[in-house]
Amino acid sequence: MSDFNFFQVSDEDRVRAAAHAKHCAAAATRIPDIPAETTLRPLRQVAVIGAGTMGGGIAMALANIGVPVTLIDASAQGLDKGLSKIRDNYATSVKRGKLDAATMAERLTLITGSLEMAAVAPADLVIEAVFEDLGLKQDIFRQLDTLARSGAILATNTSGLDIDQIAAVTKRPQDVVGAHFFSPAHVMKLLEVVRAAKTAPDVIATLMDLGRRMGKTSVLARIYPGFIGNALFRQYNREAHFLVEDGALPHEVDAALTRFGYAMGIFAVHDMAGNDVGWQTRKAQMATRAKDRRWNDLILKLCDMGRFGQKSGRGWYRYEPGDRTPRRDPEIERFIVEESARMGITRRPMDETEILKRCLYGMINEGARLLEQGIALRPGDIDITYLTGYGFPAHQGGPMYLADRIGLAQVLADIRRLHAEHGAWWQPAPLLEKLVAEGRCFADLAVSQTTEPTP
Ligand SMILES: NC(=O)c1ccc[n+]([C@@H]2O[C@H](COP(=O)([O-])OP(=O)(O)OC[C@H]3O[C@@H](n4cnc5c(N)ncnc54)[C@H](O)[C@@H]3O)[C@@H](O)[C@H]2O)c1
Repeated sequence: MSDFNFFQVSDEDRVRAAAHAKHCAAAATRIPDIPAETTLRPLRQVAVIGAGTMGGGIAMALANIGVPVTLIDASAQGLDKGLSKIRDNYATSVKRGKLDAATMAERLTLITGSLEMAAVAPADLVIEAVFEDLGLKQDIFRQLDTLARSGAILATNTSGLDIDQIAAVTKRPQDVVGAHFFSPAHVMKLLEVVRAAKTAPDVIATLMDLGRRMGKTSVLARIYPGFIGNALFRQYNREAHFLVEDGALPHEVDAALTRFGYAMGIFAVHDMAGNDVGWQTRKAQMATRAKDRRWNDLILKLCDMGRFGQKSGRGWYRYEPGDRTPRRDPEIERFIVEESARMGITRRPMDETEILKRCLYGMINEGARLLEQGIALRPGDIDITYLTGYGFPAHQGGPMYLADRIGLAQVLADIRRLHAEHGAWWQPAPLLEKLVAEGRCFADLAVSQTTEPTP
């Protein structure tokens, strides 16, 4: 089997990928057991709990479509900060000529702040966006059970907690749903709607429609660690880091990813977002994680060294003051090589094709797992999640579409090789093996699951 060329994309391929994306976005709105004519619950007034990064963005996304929002925070400082960030964001849009002053004023009047949980009382929809802590979220939902009006939708913006465990503390689990917005929520075009075991169909239909009204693509997921998007992202991230331990340098991984079509490589993204995101949580998880597989802790070591990324002038790269251009840093490259030696790894050169296979095939394998478990309804839902929320290059069509283009037999052969070389993380997904054995591809699955034609 000759290797697939990840970089060769013809004009015809681009046209097909664009048609695929359009088809996926339309198909994602259709949920087999929820009729399109389902009566939606009214959304006249919304409450958002937590005025941080996400809560503020969600409040803006709601005000932008004319829905009045009450933004609630437990701390006066948190609320003030959240409201002033909203004002600043709108003011910046006015300054850039993207919004007129009258519209800004109108939107600002739609957002009111409160320090009282009781302010949820008139809301038809409550979106919780407090810290990612199960106990804290359960506590909020216990209060909502008492304070929210009957029939109100109770949504959580959790990035990956078990929403069934949140729903279980209420007497109305049918009203509880996941509404996973992406940061910044008033800008990003993806909304993952997460269906818990008891979520009522009209609750799902109402949230899917809310995403549409906000100009976003709504994708339905079921509960799974990281739902659809972050479940695949974990594989991508993990392999990028293993590649660095095994022989590639951050700029080599990033160069392969940008040549493939990503606007930025993953290490440049880490430096931009801050390597310390999730630092303490990950440290805390080290004691209890599975012992049968390899883990990657390099990023934690960077944090221990104060290499948080752009904000500290050093991360996977170094930065000149006032300049966000990532520059290679001999100090971190030396450290990486020493770390490999400490781990007993003999570093070897990685070519771009191997880098891309390891970064992308883990995502494809995980995508197959999501499909076989019904976490994602169709391969196209995974593709559109990636195209709208994770910067996957539009001309590559999404991870599952790419897998079909490469040929599933070739993808599986490589995954088997990687499994033999690297162990547990690469266990091939049974669905992938089944499709290859039957000579089928992911697109065939889309037809059989949704009985809709693919482009
Ligand atoms: N930041 C992201 O990129 C992102 C993306 C998707 C989802 N999420 C999820 O969104 C949620 C919020 O994340 P964030 O980044 O906005 O957090 P954040 O730290 O920016 O904001 C959290 C806010 O919640 C407030 N808060 C804490 N306890 C509260 C309580 N009991 N009652 C009312 N308010 C309370 C805090 O004062 C703070 O203002 C988390 O579940 C996170 O996993 C975050």
